[in-house]
Amino acid sequence: MSSTEFSAWMRQAQQRVETALDHALPAANVAPARLNEATRYATLGGGKRVRPLLVYAAGELARSPAAALDAAACAVEMIHVYSLVHDDLPCMDDDVLRRGKPTVHIEYDEATAMLVGDGLQALAFQQIGTPGLVADPARQLRMSLQLARAAGPRGMVGGQALDLAAVGQNISLEELEFMHVHKTGALIRAAVLLGALSGDASDSELETLDHFAKTIGLLFQVVDDLLDAEADTATLGKTAGKDAAHNKPTYVSLIGLADAKRFAGELRAEATRCLAPFGDRAQRLAQLTDFIVERSF
Ligand code: IPE
Ligand code: IPE
Ligand code: MG
Ligand code: MG
Ligand code: MG
Repeated sequence: MSSTEFSAWMRQAQQRVETALDHALPAANVAPARLNEATRYATLGGGKRVRPLLVYAAGELARSPAAALDAAACAVEMIHVYSLVHDDLPCMDDDVLRRGKPTVHIEYDEATAMLVGDGLQALAFQQIGTPGLVADPARQLRMSLQLARAAGPRGMVGGQALDLAAVGQNISLEELEFMHVHKTGALIRAAVLLGALSGDASDSELETLDHFAKTIGLLFQVVDDLLDAEADTATLGKTAGKDAAHNKPTYVSLIGLADAKRFAGELRAEATRCLAPFGDRAQRLAQLTDFIVERSF
């Protein structure tokens, strides 16, 4: 399949989640207007939407119903946006630019940024909690548990805690991988699993997809480390070079650019191998794996 065809699919899926998010978020003119406006500012009109794209791609493979995929896509993106808004706060990475715009605490204020994140997390679970979203209630419950685990102390929040504790420290490659798998990998993993759980993927298919998802989750953060070191701020839409400036251990600081790229190549090959048993059904997931490596921001 041509790359123009994939680009068209990607644009369409990005538009689809944009519309779903627009409907799911409170309107900007209802009280509390400042919070709702800031939440829409943080969430709408930006980002690559990689996690929703993964939900849709896994959902295609598992013949999932459209409404469940839209809800799951919104939920994972909401958790992701919340994590970005908090990640950018002065008490964490202290960043002023996100998705090409001033960060929420700069455009609004710190308290609003905290509340935007808190609110998005609750809204995420509201999305996938709607009764009857998928035919089997037990599967829907698994979706909620999966997302809760991915977002919490055994997932993203745990990874973020390790990330902050690692500033200025010499950590091992093993510790770095553990941190990346949690802070970024967990939610990417949840995106794939929620897409597959809302459909008819069997337990053994879910297991294979889980291995795939863990691999691209780590891959995503390795590439994020590389981009931070190599890309420029205008292309990234966020401040380049801040990992080194903040003394953050990354794949680039631990093993250097060349080995980090080599490692990304190995993870890409491993991810592609995981998809082989699915044949054409995994075409979108394979294309997204390539996109994760080849992206410029
Ligand atoms: C950035 O995520 C933060 C990480 C978890 C590495 P993305 O690169 O997906 O950011 P957006 O959503 O496209 O802005
Ligand atoms: C972000 O990692 C991980 C989460 C937000 C959970 P980074 O701190 O590297 O993300 P960027 O580079 O600011 O997007
Ligand atoms: Mg960070
Ligand atoms: Mg950051
Ligand atoms: Mg980064």
